[in-house]
Amino acid sequence: MRIGIYGGSFDPVHDGHIAMINSALKSGFVDLVIVIPSVRNNFKLYSNKLPPPYRLCMMKETIEGLGIKNCLVNDIEFGIDGVSYTSVVLEKLTSDEYIRDFLISNDIKKKKAEEHHEFFWIMGSDTLGTFETWYNPGGILNHAALLAAVRPGDTTDVERAADSIRKNLGGKVEIFRLNGVDCSSSAITSSGDFSMVPEPAREFIKRHALYTENTKLEGVSDEARKQFFESSVWMYKYLGAKRLLHTLNVGYLSAHLADVFGCDKDKALIAGALHDCAKELPLEKQTELAKKYSGDLFTEKKLLHSPAGAVFARDEFGIEDKEILDAICYHTTGRGNMTLLEKIVYLADKIEPSRNYTDLTPIRTAAEIDLDSAMRMTALAVKNKFVSQGRDIHPMTVLMMKDLHM
Ligand SMILES: [Fe+2]
Ligand SMILES: [Fe+2]
Repeated sequence: MRIGIYGGSFDPVHDGHIAMINSALKSGFVDLVIVIPSVRNNFKLYSNKLPPPYRLCMMKETIEGLGIKNCLVNDIEFGIDGVSYTSVVLEKLTSDEYIRDFLISNDIKKKKAEEHHEFFWIMGSDTLGTFETWYNPGGILNHAALLAAVRPGDTTDVERAADSIRKNLGGKVEIFRLNGVDCSSSAITSSGDFSMVPEPAREFIKRHALYTENTKLEGVSDEARKQFFESSVWMYKYLGAKRLLHTLNVGYLSAHLADVFGCDKDKALIAGALHDCAKELPLEKQTELAKKYSGDLFTEKKLLHSPAGAVFARDEFGIEDKEILDAICYHTTGRGNMTLLEKIVYLADKIEPSRNYTDLTPIRTAAEIDLDSAMRMTALAVKNKFVSQGRDIHPMTVLMMKDLHM
């Protein structure tokens, strides 16, 4: 097969990206396009607006929602340590074993997946002129030809740039015409006009309340921001997409609530983001980890992931801060004498934007004004649910409710 590879931040994905994919497929140069959302781009290591899993899932939902055929979204950069340079990504992606397994896992017939493939790195012709200054351009050309899109109104001397690359680096360069609009992700987010964002992506953004004041993380330290982004990549190995986005959403909301109620914003972001990190580990593993943190305090299956998460975040991700670990440990049950941080993570977990198990508007409204009142509303809903299911309320939750004068 002739495979086009299209990398980018897609922060957010917009009509220009989609035009690029469609035009490449129509160009006759490629049979399939693989889209790769960046994880640690060399130009903007942690300056993307959203951590990688959001951008990956948004792209997947968009391609699927728009029904674009012959286009696959790939997560290869999640498995690369350090900066994901194009040459490094291409070396891994184009290896016989990797590409075969990836294509087969995406329902491409084994025979086709095992064929000899020809690879094309898709890029805008405006970046063709600077290609020779990229990290290891020769390495890129060893694995793929360049497939450059001539954008509408592009004034660069495309053929001259292509000739220079052919002459100086001995690479193959092809040019195709881009039929579509000109827009940029940064213009979209700075103007707040999302009309050039495809409908499925807009849906996704709305569901998770992204690109809002809360997700700007103003006042969060660079270190915590970096840790938040890295935690999202680390947890990608252990959580399915829905749970991963939920736990990250709790990070954003906890950071916001920390702002409202005067709590440490860095700690709230990290504790919230990591609170469910152990939820999809095998039960045996959860039991083992939970014991390390809290002995036999939690034995119910559904509760194990909370203390287990504290140990997992500490031992595997390197979180040492006891306040953060406790907020993770008690996020499901609460406890007596809860700290402000613990209350915030407890609450954010129940009401983050993608939660829709009931109408949460009253609790969300209360959460902006009076933390304890929102906690009481949440605890009452939990209590009612337990009573209706004939389940016992955990003694730690009883203590929390007592503190809240319930
Ligand atoms: Fe949880
Ligand atoms: Fe949760």
